[in-house]
Amino acid sequence: MAGDNIVLVGFMGAGKSVCGRLLARRLGRCFVETDDMIVSRDGRSIPEIFRADGEDVFRRLEAETVEALRLKSGDVIATGGGLPCREGRMDVLRALGTVVWLRGDLPVQLERASRFGGRPMLDRSPADVEGLYRSREPYYRRAHVTIDTAGLGVDQVVARVLAALRENHAARV
Ligand code: S3P
Repeated sequence: MAGDNIVLVGFMGAGKSVCGRLLARRLGRCFVETDDMIVSRDGRSIPEIFRADGEDVFRRLEAETVEALRLKSGDVIATGGGLPCREGRMDVLRALGTVVWLRGDLPVQLERASRFGGRPMLDRSPADVEGLYRSREPYYRRAHVTIDTAGLGVDQVVARVLAALRENHAARV
């Protein structure tokens, strides 16, 4: 069934990868990351794609990846921070399954994202990064479920996601 995936959205550093991996393990499901799909299809790292070809080309690769996601079922899917933030994209993600927004404090997310590096979209002033985040919030907000992650560890976030998924499922059946 195409609509039975769990799709994690949120800004860079929200914890989509680490929480998604643990969530998948808890549920006995496969874990996929759109950024990994792009890297394995293209053969270059994300910073290399941005450096050589720019953001527009990366976004085109992202769009192709979204098409490929239509074949997924039953998976936990972590999306890149900018992937949901295009016209119509949240509708496509919502059709793939239950969309979960991991919403964190911006400074904490930025600290985490810059600790791991490799985020070309953060090569801009703090005011511009904040502007980028604010411009993305309306897209993330369209998730079926929002989890406030402030002050929570990975285990706690995953426990909340599981509880919310159970509730969401109960509400839909
Ligand atoms: C991006 C987020 C990154 C990656 C790329 C662009 C963005 O993924 O897709 O660097 O535009 O926010 P993470 O959200 O996993 O860092």
